[in-house]
Amino acid sequence: MTITSLRFPDGFLWGASTAAHQIEGNNLNSDWWRKEHDPAAKISEPSLDACDSYHRWEQDMDLLSELGFTDYRFSVEWARIEPVPGIFSRAEIAHYRRMVEGASARNLRPMVTLHHFTVPQWFADMGGWTSAGAAELFARYVENCAPIIADGVRHVCTINEPNMIAVMAGAAKAGNQGFPPAGLPTPDEETTRAVIAAHHAAVKAVRGINPAIQVGWTIANQVYQALPGAEADTAAYRHPREDVFIEAAQGDDFIGIQSYTRTKIGSEGPVPAPEDAERTLTQWEYYPAAVGDALRHTANIIGRDMPLIVTENGIATADDSRRIDYYTGALKAVTAALADGINVVGYLAWSALDNYEWGSYTPTFGLIAVDPLTFERTPKPSAVWLGSLGRTRELPRTA
Ligand code: NOJ
Repeated sequence: MTITSLRFPDGFLWGASTAAHQIEGNNLNSDWWRKEHDPAAKISEPSLDACDSYHRWEQDMDLLSELGFTDYRFSVEWARIEPVPGIFSRAEIAHYRRMVEGASARNLRPMVTLHHFTVPQWFADMGGWTSAGAAELFARYVENCAPIIADGVRHVCTINEPNMIAVMAGAAKAGNQGFPPAGLPTPDEETTRAVIAAHHAAVKAVRGINPAIQVGWTIANQVYQALPGAEADTAAYRHPREDVFIEAAQGDDFIGIQSYTRTKIGSEGPVPAPEDAERTLTQWEYYPAAVGDALRHTANIIGRDMPLIVTENGIATADDSRRIDYYTGALKAVTAALADGINVVGYLAWSALDNYEWGSYTPTFGLIAVDPLTFERTPKPSAVWLGSLGRTRELPRTA
């Protein structure tokens, strides 16, 4: 296939993503905070102050806007907004509303995620997603986010990586806590059903707030590739881990694609990448083409009309030149998908900042470095390069 155009269409979203717990710091009422301080959870380091973005979000947005990005995806924190059941903090709602307005004031279109892995401790204590009334409680929280999202927010993501939530629940039932490697443990079916119900309730709540909002959810795409002869095994392996969540997006306004690497599947299950394969700081195989496969697979499952947004894509590396190389390969794959008529409407890199990678600060996904002591932000060359494409909307052909 020849790539005829490396241009991104008009109106294409061009941004970077973050999540509250990973950057804000001191998310004291969340289940993750408690887990980070529970020795039994064996989490290597706690989030503590993170990037202090709770206080420094204006600086983060200034930088993204100056770099050339036009979109910023961030999440609002349920544990702050509803610290005890049914009590909603006006101050926290006002805080997130200021962020929405602050983004718009900097010509950054805000994309708001309502749930990004963390829940209030009280919600975890009552049994989490699979407890009675969980979907209704989530919808009530979403309704109470109306002052944040009712005006000036075009895209809302309900639940981030529901398939990873189901996988983590499956792993926890098997005695393993934390964020699993490349999505492989068996997902917990009850959790799958529960998060799908919560998503559907949240979509309804968002549409009740403002029907013009484009609402969807964001799926972790592991890019399962069948070894010869293992096509049927791969389809069977993938369905509960990915396709069931893509299918549940039917009727949404968009679907978020989140891809980083690939997973090869043989008749016995996942097959690790060869010993000599290049690996990133998360130990995932370096495979920039993943996002193209993820886009094509998602379009095949959900249908060609559904708008697809790459809501996360990136690499954990200490070598920023590898990050530029990764994004170059990834964006070639995105432009190739566009040329093939895949309905891609945006691309948001993961992540704006070096942040708390669910248990450790070592895997640095950021376009912008953050000094852990002073919180000083320093854009990396990759940030300057990727941001500049927001102005030209064109991937240089020499790339
Ligand atoms: C997906 C998650 O949404 C995000 O929280 C995480 O940091 C990245 N992938 C990288 O693992």
